[in-house]
Amino acid sequence: MALPENFIYELKQNNPIDTFVSSYAVLKRSGRNYACLCPFHSEKSPSCVVYTESQSFYCFGCGAGGDVITFTMKIENLSYIEAVKFLADRAGMQMPDEAKNNDFSRLKARVLEINRTAARFFHDTLTRSPEGEKGRRYFAERQLTPATIVKYGLGYAPDDWHRLHYFLRDKGYSDDELVTANLCTRSQKGAVFDSFRDRVIFPIIDLRGNVVAFGGRIIDGSGPKYLNSSDTPVFKKSRNLFSLNFAKKSEERRLILAEGYMDVISINQAGFENVVATLGTALTPEQARLMKQYADEIIISYDSDGPGQAATHKAINLLSEAGAETRIIKMEGAKDPDEYIKKFGAARFRQLLDRSDGAIDFELRKCASGLDLDTEQGKITYLRRCVKLLADISSPIEREVYISRLAKENGVNREMLIQQVNGLIKQNIRTADKEEQRAVQTFSVQRRANPDSTAHPKEFKAERGIIAYLAANPDELPYIESRLTPELFVTDFNRRVYEKLAEKLKNTVEFDIMSLQSEFSADEMGKITEIVVTGRNVDINRSALDDYINILEEYKNKNIKVGALSDDDFLDYFENLKRSK
Ligand code: UTP
Ligand code: MN
Repeated sequence: MALPENFIYELKQNNPIDTFVSSYAVLKRSGRNYACLCPFHSEKSPSCVVYTESQSFYCFGCGAGGDVITFTMKIENLSYIEAVKFLADRAGMQMPDEAKNNDFSRLKARVLEINRTAARFFHDTLTRSPEGEKGRRYFAERQLTPATIVKYGLGYAPDDWHRLHYFLRDKGYSDDELVTANLCTRSQKGAVFDSFRDRVIFPIIDLRGNVVAFGGRIIDGSGPKYLNSSDTPVFKKSRNLFSLNFAKKSEERRLILAEGYMDVISINQAGFENVVATLGTALTPEQARLMKQYADEIIISYDSDGPGQAATHKAINLLSEAGAETRIIKMEGAKDPDEYIKKFGAARFRQLLDRSDGAIDFELRKCASGLDLDTEQGKITYLRRCVKLLADISSPIEREVYISRLAKENGVNREMLIQQVNGLIKQNIRTADKEEQRAVQTFSVQRRANPDSTAHPKEFKAERGIIAYLAANPDELPYIESRLTPELFVTDFNRRVYEKLAEKLKNTVEFDIMSLQSEFSADEMGKITEIVVTGRNVDINRSALDDYINILEEYKNKNIKVGALSDDDFLDYFENLKRSK
């Protein structure tokens, strides 16, 4: 779908690529541009460049490239139009009308309406109906105040197979829509019934205040403890966080990450607005990045049991990859924050937050797990694990501090520890370099394996030169067109790029090569950006351009069978032949 040029222009103005990329990667200034570790492939030294002037990016390691829209498509895994919407939302812009009225948008709007109506139904059932008594009693036992119940819009789903089903059907929603919203389930035989029955309900609200999904907890009886909506047109589990709608309003650049719905609600009720949880899944990279947008420091307060601690370890890694500092609370005497607050109160929980450990302390402590430190073998294994951990700390000062402490605590020689850690760091760098080289090699092998470039290397290069020249000198289009037609291009992809480029140049006022985005896939945009970026480096002039065009003409002349031409083409052919001499 074509969106108005000025809309895209404004969209990009409002989403500067450097600001945008910086919420996914740590940018380091390098001249006028920025460099960062590429978010699209694994590497240890930065090969992804963000160009401020052309508002584009290109990774010299993996070939990803394009503009802020391409970047969004790739990193958020969205289609072109979805990425534009994503960026529009972020900038608080309204989508143009023609983009709004497609079927998918209509379905989304319907599902949101259904969700809102259902949330009100569950809430009213909980607070007003006689059968809601069961839910009211449950929440009272868990010491939730009426204000908290209202704040979170908690509800109760009656013990009935069709109550919500019929309620919503009477309001004009079809069975298909209800199943799409995940509020009803369709059995194999085709019967439609309520998904949530006899459960207390936790609505999940997104950042715009839409009800996007539900979680339902069993009160008694059988079945899984929590039921969560699966993904729907308006909900993706992996990129939402429970209670972020409240947490985002908190002024602190600090978030508490808890494990479950009830922990979040208890912590919030105890006076901490800045708390979130994932929705029945382990933390995802997307959620880590989302949290980093709202906080620089994240305090993980997962359950104190084994699974909780294992999940903590994973979360530390994901959050630090997203560029956030992590701290970990050390909870004793309770299995989770909910229980802790009930037992010891909000003030003690605040102390827990304030005394939370840095991620490294947490990890160091974990190194001792399963070992008997009183035995020599136990101690050696422990120190080995610690050395491995310390070698991963990037700040030398921080490393020093921990090494000194570790040496003192264990009565070992500090110099020896330093030596061990440094040795491992060197080794790690060597391995990383090798891996990176291998990745770059694989990539360039792939690039060389491009059939077009292997079959016609000279022409391929010429075509890229012409495209790069045109992109840098849009005013030269008339000259180029006087000398070549798209048919002269030997390779299909480059021809398509040239054709679209020429077309755009004629139809747009403020030309930008990245506007090709609407015609090409994100991967193709990577190739186009590569052409532009490499072209910029060699600075092609008019005479280089002429050489490139000659190469394409020669190729054509070589490959034409004269007898197969019509009379007109025959004349053209000789004209061309004369001209190119
Ligand atoms: P917990 O079992 O720790 O639940 O699971 P909880 O939040 O402490 O709940 P209460 O206190 O027993 O009521 C943590 C989270 O894991 C997900 C839910 O998101 C839950 O909040 N979970 C758990 C499920 O999705 N399904 C389950 O069956 C259990
Ligand atoms: Mn719990």
